[in-house]
Amino acid sequence: SVPEKFSLSGSQSPVVGFLGQDVLLPCQLSPPAQLPNMDVQWRKIGQEFILVHEYADRGTQELPGAGYQNRTELFPSDFSSGNISLKLKMLQITDNGKYQCFVRDAEWSHEAITELRVAAVAPVFIDVLGSRGQGIGLACRSAGWFPKPELQWVGKNWQNLAMDIVTDVTEDRENLYSVVSHVTVTEREGSGDISCIVRNRMVDTEQQSAIHLSSDIFPRVSPWLAAFWALFALVLIAAGICAYLGYTAKQKASQKKRSKEEAQ
Ligand SMILES: *[C@@H]1O[C@H](CO)[C@@H](O)[C@H](O)[C@H]1NC(C)=O
Repeated sequence: SVPEKFSLSGSQSPVVGFLGQDVLLPCQLSPPAQLPNMDVQWRKIGQEFILVHEYADRGTQELPGAGYQNRTELFPSDFSSGNISLKLKMLQITDNGKYQCFVRDAEWSHEAITELRVAAVAPVFIDVLGSRGQGIGLACRSAGWFPKPELQWVGKNWQNLAMDIVTDVTEDRENLYSVVSHVTVTEREGSGDISCIVRNRMVDTEQQSAIHLSSDIFPRVSPWLAAFWALFALVLIAAGICAYLGYTAKQKASQKKRSKEEAQ
């Protein structure tokens, strides 16, 4: 009979799309055929089904679901090859989820499920914040990621780069993540480029920015300042020695006095 003759298939692996771009959600009828009086419904699976796009063969009507106006497209000219894929446009983070392709005619119905994962990536910037003690403060920032990204500083010739890195991730109202990371590098640690890499594990995509720090921009300790601190330290030591000598002399004197009193 007809119901066993046909099968419907979606995508085995999740389909990945990027925020603001378009994606094709595949759905294939096999063997390829266009059934007479075929109805197609694309729906999103949530707590209940949400209609995304509907096609009724009688009278060739097409209707996008509420919230999907101007964002959906079916290709009826490809139906004859069993292709009832849906194009979803201008992707939003809320489009993440499972979609069902539901096909029905007078005698039977079939369905196939495809998962959509919407990702967002954004450019990465490095700011030079200026001198921080003996070193230079750097900040790496990037806004507009989904899901939560990972941030990494990389400097092949910088030994202590992994130390004292402070990274903050925040989520904004549109469910996008921003990341900011601070690091202080000192000239003694190395030379060459320092990169900041932000990575989206879900889609295995990364963005990065690099900076070259020339040794000229590191704060120099002036020889006069060094001499001042050396002198200051000497004065402190001398004062300490004097205080100690004074204290022991005083103690000796009072001891002498006490023993004299005892003798009397
Ligand atoms: C189905 O049709 C769409 C739109 O023409 C096309 O982009 C897609 O490659 C087709 N899929 C297959 C499996 O032929």
